[in-house]
Amino acid sequence: MAGLGGPVASRSRRAMGAIVPLDRGAIARALSSAGLAIEVADTVDSTNSELLRRADGTQIHRHLLVAEWQTAGRGRRGRGWSAVAGGSLTFSLGWRFEQGAERLGGLSLAVGVALARVLDASGYHGIELKWPNDLVHEGRKLGGILIESSGDALGPIRAVIGVGINVRLPAEIHREVGVPITDLTSISKTQAIDRNALLARLGADLAIALESYSTEGFAAFRSQWRKRDALRDQRVQVLLPDGSTILGVAAGVDADGALLVERNGRRLRFVTGDVSVRPRAC
Ligand code: BTN
Repeated sequence: MAGLGGPVASRSRRAMGAIVPLDRGAIARALSSAGLAIEVADTVDSTNSELLRRADGTQIHRHLLVAEWQTAGRGRRGRGWSAVAGGSLTFSLGWRFEQGAERLGGLSLAVGVALARVLDASGYHGIELKWPNDLVHEGRKLGGILIESSGDALGPIRAVIGVGINVRLPAEIHREVGVPITDLTSISKTQAIDRNALLARLGADLAIALESYSTEGFAAFRSQWRKRDALRDQRVQVLLPDGSTILGVAAGVDADGALLVERNGRRLRFVTGDVSVRPRAC
């Protein structure tokens, strides 16, 4: 289950018992003023892949595609993302940016801020953001963001913003995944989480955040991101696309959302792309 952090161990459908299914009507009613089109699918390969396939022929701007089950969910850096039917939230939102690809630089960080705000307001406190796309709680991965795009790099560009959040995972999943993971149920100690209501809040606030990001960019989110920075001042290891690593101390992000790392008195800057970062033991 990579989405939960590591390589996909199984693609068979697993479900949590006694679940309330995702319900388009319930989500749409709760989202009435958000100006989003809602679609709930029982099964797709990947909500991101599905919106990307549609992006050239149809309008995906403000289209929210939610799936109970993904057969080929994807994470960053070519990893998979699998989830549990009834025990996860997996969705993608299409958004059009007039500015083009350069506007997408800090987008996953801004989306992380928006999601963390909603979760906080919903009673899931202490959520931090690990550059560039992870939601974490007490060092365990709670969710991830995958942003992909289609269109002219100079603009307009159609972004597909994919989000996976662990809601209630069975114990065996925790054992299968190679990295520490958590879920909303463990954070709140609540068994009955209303996924439809939570999804509606996430979708509505994400839309507001994206409107603001369209005009102001990452600047509107930077101070809030810094407050939730899971790596701030920690010794880290940055993994580069060529397989090499750089060691240093995380020093936050710049105005474009690039990661800053102090090393031997110099400040290095990394943009998202295929770079990843992890804390390292002292
Ligand atoms: C990561 O942590 O690497 C990002 C994970 C993103 C997973 C979500 S689930 C909904 C959407 N569809 C996908 O195939 N991936 C994203």
